Amino acid sequence: MIGPPTFDFRPKTPYNAAVIAGPSAPIKTPEKLPSREAQIPMKPSFKLLGFDHVTFAVGNAKQAAHYYQTVFGFDLAGYRGLEQGDRQTASYVLKQNHVQFVLNTPYRGESPLNESLKKHGDGVTDIAFHVDDAVKAWEHTTKHGAKSAFEPRTMEDDGGKVVVSGIHTYGDVTHTFVERHHYKGVFLPGYAPAKSRIKAESTGLLFIDHIVGNQPDSEMENVVRFYENIFGFQRLWTVDDKDISTEHTALRSVVVADENETIKMPINEPAHGLKKSQIQEYVDFNSGAGVQHIAMSTNDIVFTIKKLVENGAEFLYVPKTYYDDLSQRVGVIEEDVKVLEKMGILVDRDDSGYLLQLFTKPVQDRPTLFFELIQRKNARSFGKGNFKALFESIEREQARRGTL
Ligand code: FE2
Repeated sequence: MIGPPTFDFRPKTPYNAAVIAGPSAPIKTPEKLPSREAQIPMKPSFKLLGFDHVTFAVGNAKQAAHYYQTVFGFDLAGYRGLEQGDRQTASYVLKQNHVQFVLNTPYRGESPLNESLKKHGDGVTDIAFHVDDAVKAWEHTTKHGAKSAFEPRTMEDDGGKVVVSGIHTYGDVTHTFVERHHYKGVFLPGYAPAKSRIKAESTGLLFIDHIVGNQPDSEMENVVRFYENIFGFQRLWTVDDKDISTEHTALRSVVVADENETIKMPINEPAHGLKKSQIQEYVDFNSGAGVQHIAMSTNDIVFTIKKLVENGAEFLYVPKTYYDDLSQRVGVIEEDVKVLEKMGILVDRDDSGYLLQLFTKPVQDRPTLFFELIQRKNARSFGKGNFKALFESIEREQARRGTL
């Protein structure tokens, strides 16, 4: 092939333009799946070290920060706004172990961030990766088909130096590359430490396990190839509509990941069923592609879900019948099935081990972004065995919203 491939991602306003930083998660490399498709993606000239942080556009960051502290147990770690000389955007940084979120809200009508809010509502605008070299990351990815969101730039303050750059990906989402030089500030240069009167108690969230992108019909393959080309990602896991359709709705999904499986990015598209796919519902309400869910890892999902329920988080209802044949489906597990049933926690097994997971309802009024809580016991998959039970639950919610 001569020249870089081109991808149909329109150039957009860099809503996120570099809000940034934090350590990436120390994830041990799982055993390799024996049957990975033989393919040799091009090795990038820089290292992707993990998810750095996720940036959200929200209508009222001050109140949203309260929600993430009181419900999910994040600490308010940093802030940037008028007091720091930013006349456009108020930003709140929330941290829990290695999970870092930034909530952005525009101060004024002319802020470009309003375009994102008008079109998509509250949701993810940027997925930032920790890299060893943000200049090389930008040069390599833009050479291999990515459109630049912003060129590499160095930011400095008393805490040290950080280099950032950015590219566009699916929908209006961007990827920021963050290169740290032992930066010692609260988050990124320009952010001030923040004090909160809320005493947030950790809910046990450790790091981001995976981030899922929903695509419009027939767009999944294009996005998967994009990640193969720019990052040398491999196809870790694939499901088609026969695997996970219910009577009414269906989807297709391909998980792309780096070779260490530190960064896992499932890409979904709707498949045709008797009724509207949940992916199509997302695309309709989000006005196009976007981040569907962020999965956060815990070492004790029973503790995590108990705390989240006490704090007022809403979870998808899992039918009691799901647990009737659980032992036959997943074999022996360490947890008490009665406790899992009481809390509605899902279990699935693959060749490497098993996993426990549960999904929140959408965390804003539009039925778009939600969260997953996941505890892996060596399993490397994503809960295929739970999809049918889960989708039936989602369909009940869709029916209640009149969008099925
Ligand atoms: Fe997931």
